[in-house]
Amino acid sequence: MKDTFGREINYLRISVTDKCNLRCRYCMPEEGVADLGHENILTYEEIHRVVEASAKLGITKYRLTGGEPLVRRGIVGLVERMKQTPGVEKITMTTNGILLPQLAEKLKESGLDRVNISLDSLRHDRYREITRGGDLDQAIAGINAAAKAGLTPIKLNVVMMKGFNDDEILDFVQLTLQHDYEVRFIELMPVGRAENDFAHGYMASEEIKARLPQLIPVEKQEGVAEIYQYRGARGRIGFITPISCNFCSQCNKLRLTADGKLKTCLHSEKEIDLKKALREGQPGDLEKVLTEAIRGKEEKHHLESGQAPISRDMNKIGG
Ligand code: 5AD
Ligand code: SF4
Repeated sequence: MKDTFGREINYLRISVTDKCNLRCRYCMPEEGVADLGHENILTYEEIHRVVEASAKLGITKYRLTGGEPLVRRGIVGLVERMKQTPGVEKITMTTNGILLPQLAEKLKESGLDRVNISLDSLRHDRYREITRGGDLDQAIAGINAAAKAGLTPIKLNVVMMKGFNDDEILDFVQLTLQHDYEVRFIELMPVGRAENDFAHGYMASEEIKARLPQLIPVEKQEGVAEIYQYRGARGRIGFITPISCNFCSQCNKLRLTADGKLKTCLHSEKEIDLKKALREGQPGDLEKVLTEAIRGKEEKHHLESGQAPISRDMNKIGG
């Protein structure tokens, strides 16, 4: 359905856990997160009810996120149930890839369409530093497993941070010459603890583009990324510009947190308690609450004019 600004809302991101097997610095605290407790996170049954209700309202695209979605047991079964739900057209996942060698095939068989894999560095020491202990080889094994299983086209999410990984821009671009990947440079957003890094690390996409004079725009653009290609390359290069080129006017998203809160804008503190509607509501309440939520979706963020960053860390929301 359309919101009050005429945007067709057709996309729901579902965070299935706030836990992760890595600890990316801009995303979560070093010590990890306190257990939310079984009763406080949505069961797969409840998530499925949200999927059914939202699909009736015209949501067709779903993305599973975390934390790290693959650390929650039984995730393959959720994908399978979602895929069988009338109205659900596409299911994707954002993952760090570490568990894909074990799970890629099963996920594909259950109906997962493709994956975005977070990869902020191609250097072992640096990858370990940003993820606080992650092993680059495992992430790469995950990418290969996804490719083999056909979870394609594979998109690699690279949050570009000045003075940290901006000397790897060309290395990432080179990857697209040989591989059929879409490397997506993402602007760092001031969300939760990333606010600190944002002050000195934020790098606008224009600055990256200025270092890549031979980019050729790809003709058919879809979604919020701006897509380019190098001549003769197999893969593509995307830019995601939530900050410098506010794409709110095309925003088609809702987000569901692991603890059952619906967010209609990533940068707003407003959260709608779906867990309550799920556990205490009457039949039909869920659709009503979702409809109201879509009607109340924010027009845009105001980060450029002093809006305060939200306090929740990204692992609680799912990016
Ligand atoms: N700014 C931009 N992207 C972020 N992500 C997490 N935190 C931020 C942030 N502050 C990205 C991760 C991952 C996805 C889940 O969200 O790199 O690819
Ligand atoms: Fe959508 Fe809010 Fe992000 Fe704008 S700031 S693109 S409205 S989620």
